[in-house]
Amino acid sequence: MSEPAGPDRTAILQALDGVVDPRSGKGLTSAGMVRGLVLRDGRAAFMLEVAPADADLYRPVRDQAEAVLADMPGVEMAQVVLTTEIQAPTPSPGFQVSPRRPLPGETPPARRARIAEDPQARLHPMVEAVKPAHVTKVIAVASGKGGVGKSTVSVNLAAALARMGKRVGLLDADIYGPSAPTMLGVDGDPTFDADKRLNPMEAWGVKVMSIGFIVEPGTANIWRGPMASSALRSLMNSNWGTADEPLDVLVIDLPPGTGDIQLTLVQKLVIDGVIIVSTPQEIALIDARRAAAMFDKTGAPILGVVENMAYFVDSSGAKAPIFGTGGARAEAERLGVPLLAEIPIEVALREACDQGRPLAATDADSAAARAFVELAGKVAG
Ligand SMILES: Nc1ncnc2c1ncn2[C@@H]1O[C@H](COP(=O)(O)OP(=O)(O)OP(=O)(O)O)[C@@H](O)[C@H]1O
Ligand SMILES: [Mg+2]
Repeated sequence: MSEPAGPDRTAILQALDGVVDPRSGKGLTSAGMVRGLVLRDGRAAFMLEVAPADADLYRPVRDQAEAVLADMPGVEMAQVVLTTEIQAPTPSPGFQVSPRRPLPGETPPARRARIAEDPQARLHPMVEAVKPAHVTKVIAVASGKGGVGKSTVSVNLAAALARMGKRVGLLDADIYGPSAPTMLGVDGDPTFDADKRLNPMEAWGVKVMSIGFIVEPGTANIWRGPMASSALRSLMNSNWGTADEPLDVLVIDLPPGTGDIQLTLVQKLVIDGVIIVSTPQEIALIDARRAAAMFDKTGAPILGVVENMAYFVDSSGAKAPIFGTGGARAEAERLGVPLLAEIPIEVALREACDQGRPLAATDADSAAARAFVELAGKVAG
């Protein structure tokens, strides 16, 4: 197959082999880590797929690979997308509430974390939480595949809703890799109200609750099954609002996949709408379809699909759909739901996430921020 004029594939694969894969010690190409390499019209892009626990380890590798691509002759635009493989659901004895208690003779291990050190902070069992108290609308943000931008969409959607004057909360339900503390620049130990419910933190006009607030960094991903479910129920039943001032919208940022946590959420919680996030690649769309099928079975209505990393605006201002076009729209049509938004790839969006300043709260002018505002308008009603 001949490729249209553009960057030289062999030279690029050779150059990428100079970037070391930290797991195997081989070059990225030899290690089979360069997947879906797209070379077209001066654009070079590929996906770096890693295990969820390795996301932090591979972030510098992604940056290094992007720099290598950008330096290649003929490359005007370089993009390496770090995605995470889906973790197989871990077996757990159903989803019954199990209060946390140490095993006989057990000294509390690290994973008992900050919440366990606070005598007030016993995760009290929740009886069949149907809907968190004083929350008008619960919207879950889901995807099948990791790293496609669920947290980015959740955080910016929440910030855009707050900017519209809505009372909004964000529940970061990703026990494998909580993002809200970083993306909203908020951390600390949550306090408890008179009913022993957790009081959410507040940032950018958004009430935020994250598993990241109650466990030590790096330990959340060892939580499994009932323990995680019980913790999530406590987070869900936080003090989101009052009878006089209920929350208008609670946005839930789900972990990737269709495992325990998603099942707990969809089975135990009334979800008023699900937003499915996908990137344009077929590989991400297939997983998005899987997530949609799971929600469909539980009867949670799917509000629509958000296509993230939909295009890149090049230096001339033209839209460059480096990962292809039409896939998400076709998938939305197949599911019989609208394509709610197309979020462009923006370096400023990534930087804003890393710096804890959601773009939708700080910069109304970028194309991505406008897309989030439009999305907020569609789901706010
Ligand atoms: N439209 C975009 N433009 C530029 N960078 C983006 C965009 N969307 C997401 N990113 C970046 O991609 C990375 C992954 O995004 P994010 O953490 O939101 O994905 P996720 O689906 O929540 O991942 P996980 O499955 O690990 O929870 C982040 O570094 C984020 O800043
Ligand atoms: Mg996330």
